[in-house]
Parts: sequence; C-alpha cells; structure tokens
Amino acid sequence: MKYLIGNWKMNLGPSESLNLVAELITKMSDFQPLEVVICPSLLALVPVFAKNKDHFSLGAQNCFYEDEGAFTGEVSARQLEGLVGYCLVGHSERRQLFNENETEVNHKVRACLKNGIKPVLCIGETLNQRQNGETETTLRNQLDGGLMGVGASEIGKILVAYEPVWAIGSGQTPKMDDLAHAVHIIQTQFEFMYGNSQVPVLYGGSVSDENAEEIMSVPQLDGLLVGNSSLNPEKFAIIGEIIKRGSGLTWSQI
Ligand code: PGA
Repeated sequence: MKYLIGNWKMNLGPSESLNLVAELITKMSDFQPLEVVICPSLLALVPVFAKNKDHFSLGAQNCFYEDEGAFTGEVSARQLEGLVGYCLVGHSERRQLFNENETEVNHKVRACLKNGIKPVLCIGETLNQRQNGETETTLRNQLDGGLMGVGASEIGKILVAYEPVWAIGSGQTPKMDDLAHAVHIIQTQFEFMYGNSQVPVLYGGSVSDENAEEIMSVPQLDGLLVGNSSLNPEKFAIIGEIIKRGSGLTWSQI
C-alpha cells in the first residue's frame, strides 16, 4: 500500500474545503490502491465527511488524548472516532509552536490506537540537530518516546512520517542518500523495538509536483505527506499520479 496524505494545516473554511474536495474528486477519481488521505481543519472535517467519505480517507491534524472532560478547545481521539481513519501526531509545528513534548505525543499515539485511528507519527531533526550530527539520535529518540507502551500487536496500525523540520515549508529537501539513510534508521529502530522493520514510512517537507518523482525513487519509501502543494488540486493529483506510477500502476484519469 502506498500513501498520499494532504495536510491542509490552518487553511480553508468548511465551504472552501468542500470546493477543494470536489476539485480533487474530478482529478483523482480512480486512485485505488493508493491510499489518499486528506487532513482538512477540524472545522471542515464534519462537512467533508458528510459529503465525501466515499472518495477519500480522512485524517485529523491533531487530537487530544483524554477521552472527554474539561479541556476547553481540545478535540479528543475518541470524539474523532468514526470520522477519521488517520491522525497526524507530533507534527513539528505542534512540537515547536505549541510545545508538544514526547510524553504528550506518546499519549496521543496511544489514544488514537485505542480509538481505532491510525496515528501518523511525525518525526524529524531540526537544522541544528542535523548540523551537529544528531539526526540519527533524534529519530531514534522520537520513535522510542512516541511509541512507549505501544505493543508489537499494534505496530501494523502505525505510519511514520519522516519530516526534517528544516525542510517543511522551506522549499528545501534532503539529498536522496540522506533520505534513504533516514528511512533505514526508522526501519532498524522498529526492528530493534519490535523485531519487525515493516512500517510504512512517508516523507514530508516541501514535496511538490516537481520533486515528487525523485523523492519517490528512494527505495522503501511508502508515500508522501504534503503540506502546501496539497492545497493545489492539480499539483496534488500529479503527486498522486507519480506515487501510483512508481508502484507500477497507471492512473487513467490524469
Ligand atoms: P510542506 O509541509 O509540504 O508545506 O513543506 C509539509 C508538512 O508540514 O507536513
């Protein structure tokens, strides 16, 4: 299974989101077996779910780990259950701008699993960590912390998105050798933790219709997590086509 996830971040209201989904449907009508997941804002999830649940899988951009209660402004994994199949957890914008720490990320991963939602655990090094040669330690620590208490029987429901912080929204992407090495680190960490390296690994950070082909040439990569370019239906559809082509299938609609 290959994945294409669109993270719309804090863009588009409910009706604009419905318009974008409608455009995506006309451009991406036959995407099996590529799993296309769109992550609109929470505000838009319900109308998008109501009108388009048969077309795309849905993901949340965040969740809270307590089931319910006095947590003003939060939405729990339990509330999202049935609405979304996926949830981004530990996105670097959450870690950096909202001070989300490893313990919270871990609680969110577990809350998703408990509620039948597949967590997309986002990990990646900052520019500083990269320049100090700390990429490997950072990735291993983030996997170790994020997956604490998650049993081997549950790892089939987890996706990992490698998103170097310095690549997000910057127009920069890693060298393909470095990307392949990061995927290898993630797989060997799973092997170390669970005796099984089989985990879907996606790449995210300035993916566009122009660089998707090169990025997807990295062996073992299972898909892409796309921010900015996911707001452009033409670009998003081309990226989907590229992933599909890479998996040996043609996408006749494009
Ligand atoms: P970008 O965002 O594609 O705009 O760099 C990716 C992400 O934040 O997931």
